Amino acid sequence: MTRKKLDVTVGSVSEVYDGAGGILWEMLMGEQIHVGSEDETDILARKAGVGAASHVLDVCSALGGPARQLVRKYGCRVTGLDATRRMDEEARRRTEEAGLSDKIDYRLGNALDMPFKAGTFDVVWGQDAWCYITDKERLIEECARVLKPGGTLAFTDWLETGPMTDDEWTALHAFMVFPYMETLEGYAALAEAAGLTVVEKEDLSPDFARSIQGYLDMVKHDFRQAIIDNYGKEMYDAVEEGITLWRDASAAGKVGRGRLIARK
Ligand SMILES: C[S@@+](CC[C@H](N)C(=O)[O-])C[C@H]1O[C@@H](n2cnc3c(N)ncnc32)[C@H](O)[C@@H]1O
Repeated sequence: MTRKKLDVTVGSVSEVYDGAGGILWEMLMGEQIHVGSEDETDILARKAGVGAASHVLDVCSALGGPARQLVRKYGCRVTGLDATRRMDEEARRRTEEAGLSDKIDYRLGNALDMPFKAGTFDVVWGQDAWCYITDKERLIEECARVLKPGGTLAFTDWLETGPMTDDEWTALHAFMVFPYMETLEGYAALAEAAGLTVVEKEDLSPDFARSIQGYLDMVKHDFRQAIIDNYGKEMYDAVEEGITLWRDASAAGKVGRGRLIARK
């Protein structure tokens, strides 16, 4: 069966994060652009067993917020990989400013063709970003390739969790610029097919629905005027409409979020 995909390329995603999209997501989520902020990074770090001896690869590292937290709290080394120039430059600038450049390095590149040798990393890590990636099978194969034997794959992602109409599917994906989303079972199957052993998978969807409601409240009450002033009323209306769509779909159990841990 061929999978339904929106016509999204890595270039279209980079346009979002090079422009207003990246700024808006940082406004709503903070410099760690994922649901659950620093707490979620700690949960994932514990589950992945990140420690002082670990070399972590953050796949889609954006502004480097999680990388800096991991280095500060766990003393590990981190390599961040991201395809968007503005994200790469900002991550380097903020890391330099934080005095952490000796423990973190960044590479501008595509997660589907990672510029790393096989068996390089103790932990391959991702937070709420792989929903943008056009080929999850190849992504997970790349993650498995660059992991050391005994290493850990640890990630959270936005997921398709229930049936929806074609129009709803298209509107939800088009607003976010997602080519398609995986299911938690789908990710587990991809990890096993890539030779990994899934040790934990958790559906975080109820918490996701609460978070999306929170982002909608922030847009309407805290950031309305700032968005209009900077980007115009049309952009504000599109943002409110898109997040409302996501709020409704998450409340109805059609979209959600999950966490998966697997070992090589
Ligand atoms: C939601 S942000 C990631 C947030 C980050 N994980 C965090 O927790 O702060 C999505 C990021 O994925 C990156 N991205 C999307 N597709 C990519 C690809 N194929 N290869 C590398 N980076 C990609 C974008 O450039 C963007 O910076």
